[in-house]
Amino acid sequence: PRIAVIVVAAGSGERLGAGGPKAFVGIDEHTILRHALTRVFAAPEAQVVIVAPRGREGDALTEALEAAGDRRDLVSVVTGGDTRQASVASGLAALWADVEIVLVHDAARALTPPAVFERVIATIDSGRDGALPVLPVVDTIKRVTDTEVLHAVDRDELAAAQTPQGFRRDILDAAYRGADREFTDDAALVGAAGHGVFVVAGDPRSFKITTPADLERARSLVATSPL
Ligand code: CTP
Ligand code: MG
Repeated sequence: PRIAVIVVAAGSGERLGAGGPKAFVGIDEHTILRHALTRVFAAPEAQVVIVAPRGREGDALTEALEAAGDRRDLVSVVTGGDTRQASVASGLAALWADVEIVLVHDAARALTPPAVFERVIATIDSGRDGALPVLPVVDTIKRVTDTEVLHAVDRDELAAAQTPQGFRRDILDAAYRGADREFTDDAALVGAAGHGVFVVAGDPRSFKITTPADLERARSLVATSPL
């Protein structure tokens, strides 16, 4: 395929505190990883590379084959690294030769609708180097020191970054080869390499399951709304 999705699922889930890797924590009868993959496989056809925690590659493959349906031949599983950036690099190394567009997606954003994948792909297809789904910032944000408020930051200049973040494959590969430090996300890494990243509409359902409260929110959402 011309498109690939790297689903990074190799984190330990410290902040969720579920006693095991976050990707395998249940939302309902299905795990966070399974929910993420169901939506990935409902998006346009792509190679799907799951980056799993060391020792859990087999579990990740089982989940992926169940979610893939007739797309099982498009699934690969690789072992993650110590940081998210290292995990993405492992995923990049597993891409097939014909892939031209790469989306990098957090498994922890388990309820991200397939339409977001479509918007990101359409943006790269239209000639952009990178695409980042964002949501407006609702809170008033202040620049502060340890003790003092400096000033408010203009909300119109801010956005909350989500995934899947999409890139031309050649640009993402080159940016990762040249990365000499840890970046907050792939858009920052590609931006630092000198490429423009275009903004597309994110979705509130793409929130990242980070804390126990986020998991509760995911549970009530799947209990009340299908996909
Ligand atoms: N991730 C990864 N490899 C790592 C760290 C993170 O693949 N070494 C993935 C996570 O599995 C997750 C996504 O990157 O899908 C976003 O990371 P985060 O929400 O921080 O997950 P964790 O690192 O697992 O959580 P925590 O930081 O609370 O330990
Ligand atoms: Mg983390």
